[in-house]
This record gives sequence, C-alpha cells and structure tokens, in this order.
Amino acid sequence: MSSYNVKKTPGDTGWFTKDRFGMFIHFGLYAMPARHEWVKSMEKISEEKYDVYFKHFNPDLYDPKDWARQAKAAGMKYAVMTAKHHEGFCLFDSKYTDYKSVNTPIGRDLLREYVDAFRAEGLRVGFYYSLIDWHHPDFTIDRNHPRRDDENAFEQNKDRDIRKYAEYMRNQVTELLTNYGKIDIIWFDFSYSNPDVNDKPWMKGKGKDDWESEKLIELVRKLQPHIIINNRTEIEQDIVTPEQYQPMDWLRDPATNELVLWEACQTFSGSWGYHRDETSWKSPETLINMLINTVCKGGNLLMNVGPTSRGFLDYRAEAALKVYADWMKYNSRSIYGCTMAEPEFTEPRGCRLTQSEDGKRLYVHLIEYPYKFLEMKGMAGKVEYAQFLHDGSEILFSEKESRHFSAGRTKADDLLILELPDVKPPVIVPVVELFLKS
Ligand code: GLC
Repeated sequence: MSSYNVKKTPGDTGWFTKDRFGMFIHFGLYAMPARHEWVKSMEKISEEKYDVYFKHFNPDLYDPKDWARQAKAAGMKYAVMTAKHHEGFCLFDSKYTDYKSVNTPIGRDLLREYVDAFRAEGLRVGFYYSLIDWHHPDFTIDRNHPRRDDENAFEQNKDRDIRKYAEYMRNQVTELLTNYGKIDIIWFDFSYSNPDVNDKPWMKGKGKDDWESEKLIELVRKLQPHIIINNRTEIEQDIVTPEQYQPMDWLRDPATNELVLWEACQTFSGSWGYHRDETSWKSPETLINMLINTVCKGGNLLMNVGPTSRGFLDYRAEAALKVYADWMKYNSRSIYGCTMAEPEFTEPRGCRLTQSEDGKRLYVHLIEYPYKFLEMKGMAGKVEYAQFLHDGSEILFSEKESRHFSAGRTKADDLLILELPDVKPPVIVPVVELFLKS
C-alpha cells in the first residue's frame, strides 16, 4: 500500500484517485465568436451585442455520445462540463432564468443529453458551475465585468444586489443536483477577493462572502453527500485545482502541510472555449508528458475540449484526443490506480516514476529515451521481472554492473541496469514495468 497520507475530506474520492484522467468541456455561446470564452469581458461587449449569439445559437451537430466515445477511447474516466460559464448562459433548463439553451434555436436541455451520453459510456459525470455571471442583473460590476469601464458603472451597481445573486446560485445548484441523478463532481469557478490594481475605489473582487460559500457548500453536501467539490469557492473542499501549469511536487495544505488531493486542468491550445485561430496547440509529447507528470506527483489531469458552435470537436481536438487514445491503449496501467512512487525510489535521468497503489509495480516512463543502458540507483535486488508495458516484451537487466565489457566502469552495489533496445519503440513515451519482489 502507498505510504502517502492524504488529507481526508467529506466527498467520495476513492474512485477519483484511481481514475486519474478526465475530460473538461467548455461549451457555451462563446463558441460562436470563437475567440476565447472571456470574449464578453475582454472586448467589453454590451448585452445587446452579445445577444446576437443567443439568438443564433444552434449546435445542430451536437452529439455528446460522440464526445463520450472519444473521451473513453482517450482513457478518460470522467467528465466535467460547463452548466453555466462566466457569460451566464445555461445549458440546462433552469426555472430561474430565460437565458438558457432551451430558448435558443436548438431548443434543448443540452446538459441532460451530455449526462445521459457520458453515463451510457460508463463515465462519471460532473458539472462546472461559474460563480461569476456577466449576465445576471444582480451580479455587481467588478474588475472582470464587461461593464467595468462604463461611465455610469458605479451607478449601475447601486441597483445590483449580490445577495440575490447568491440565492440564484443556490436555486440553480439545487436544480443541477436534483434533476440529473447522481453527480460525481461539482466544479465552482472562481474567487478573486484579493485587491487588484485595476480596482476602482468602489470596486472589489469577489470571494466566499459574496457567494455565501458556506451555505452553498452545505446545500451541495445535503443534496449529494458523496460529491467531490473543488476549492474555488474560497473554502477548501475535496480537491485543489492548479490551472495551466504542472506542479513540481505533490501539493500540500499550506496550513497543515498535509498532502492534498489535486487535479490539474489544462487546455490543448490556451483558451477553454473553442478558439478558431489559436495556433498554440500542444505537441503530442507535451500532452502525454502532462498526464505522466501529474500522476507521478499524486494528481489527476482534467484535459479540456472546447467544442465548436455547431457542437462537434474540431479536427485539432480530435487529433489531440487520439494522441491519448493511442498511448493509453497500451500504457494506461501506469496511470490508473497509480500514484507517486515511494520515496525509496529515485527517478533516473530523464524519467518519471509512478507506482501502483498496492506497491507491487513500479513504472519507469522514458521521457528521454536512453541509449541504451538505464541505470537505476538503489534498485539492485528489488526487481523480479521487467518488461516494456506497451508490448509486454522482456527487458533484460543486470545488477551492480553492466554486462557489456565497455560499460563496466559504472559499478555500485545498489545499481540496477536495464538494457533497452537501440531503437526507441514507436510509442511517444515508452514505459518499463518493473515487478518488484515482495
Ligand atoms: C479560469 C477561467 C475560465 C476557465 C477556468 C478553468 O478560471 O476563468 O475561463 O473556465 O479557468 O479552470
């Protein structure tokens, strides 16, 4: 068993640390301008102008069954989709707003179709729910709000009552956690109560007092006690959510120094919503390395897709998912049910280690392919059998010193030396599976 003690939290996280890999889905009106999901804020677009998207929203090729199939093939085990993003538009049929997909040309509860489709493929289902809302009339204008630079912004704020908005959120969260069956994750986004240079004197950021986070969380726990809640309401819950970067070590609770459960979220190309003109798509190597990097520090990876406004995953997203599918088909054993290797194991140069939860197998991810010996310090006497994970072919090894006459200069009592083929196998990151002696 893994010796790492992780901080206990109220939600059911047992499945989460086994499954390791999920799909994030950002879908909303912003898929139409296709130049970032923050477009309304970035370009300070008026309600009237933004309404053109609402009027024409018609994802006629919306087929979450196809997304679910692709997610599953990529090795993803769960998904989190935007029920509502910062623009305030709802993909579900809420009683508390007219600003929902049901009232657009598509005329359907798209969230329900997502839930049904992903469940049917055996994937767990989560909802992203934006705490920020640039459409709701009670959401006060702040530094991120599209109306922040209006001359009368201060006056506009007088008619807005954030407490009513907090109640609106509770009403909607009640709908989400009552009408769609068992939901595994709720992902709130996000708090920014820290002061900022862009704040005008009457402005401030928003955080747990504005969202009334305590009440919100209590409600969620009452409706679905097992659910996993993220940490962005400004109250720590089940998971910590580093965004668009790779933590260098297992994350800890700053107050108690305990290890915490964490989930990195990343995009294929930069923005979360569909962005037509982005050219910053990550390479296949980066995609695979991100997954390995995450699991080797005890984390999960939530990889994002931004479907087009017609409702399909464009060719670049499909290609990126295929990269995961090809790799995971043969190598998922080093990911599922795996975590950071025990401290007794040292990562050799250019490698990343993961270890199965029961401690019996160690996985050596060859990020830099070694030619041709891989020396592993401290490993002599510990390995019973070694093989490539992708094809189950034996990897010969020696202990203490290399068997090759010219390589005999490296000697050490604790050394294990793997002998790898000269030609790197056709796998983005080959993995050596070490069966440890019990
Ligand atoms: C940020 C962005 C948002 C995205 C989220 C995902 O907070 O505001 O657009 O949904 O990150 O982590």
